[in-house]
Amino acid sequence: MSENYTVQDYVADLRATVAAAETESEILSTVRPLAQKLVNNRDAWIKPEHYEVDQTRGSSLYVLHEEEDHTLMVFAACFKPGRVTPVHDHGTWAVVAGVDGEEKNTIYLRTDDGAKPDYAEIQYRGDKVVRQGDAIGMPSGTFHTVSNESDEVSVSLHTYGMNTNHTVRCQIDPETGKVEEFKIPLREG
Ligand SMILES: [Fe+2]
Repeated sequence: MSENYTVQDYVADLRATVAAAETESEILSTVRPLAQKLVNNRDAWIKPEHYEVDQTRGSSLYVLHEEEDHTLMVFAACFKPGRVTPVHDHGTWAVVAGVDGEEKNTIYLRTDDGAKPDYAEIQYRGDKVVRQGDAIGMPSGTFHTVSNESDEVSVSLHTYGMNTNHTVRCQIDPETGKVEEFKIPLREG
């Protein structure tokens, strides 16, 4: 890649995007191609340690950026072969872009009215395999799983409106509808 688009450039573009956008869908449609630009220039910023997976958990997250008020969180995530995450949401908008390998994102929308605590209904909306250079945008309220069905570690770039450990978000058991809090450990990246 001749163009040298860095994480710092990306963050500057994110700030400008969020400041100018009037809706979440405007943010998502602007951030998606910016995330694609950053993953297409992965050699400028990806590090070998971003491929180091916590073997017990099956995935690791490396923080690349977060504003002081916890908005605009960017991290690199890696998933070991066979890892399938719980069905979860983020409590904010999200853009996921492929850096290396392939990850299957299975997308669900919540269909109940949220009236019952600890219970939710979700509806399957489709699968999207994310490879290097692909990016998907998920509005607030989208649920998904990520699975690495390949035999190599996968890496992806995740961008959120807010650090997901500072939002209200949950995981859902799709069989029973049971809702639980979903928090995950973050590493400095
Ligand atoms: Fe997620």
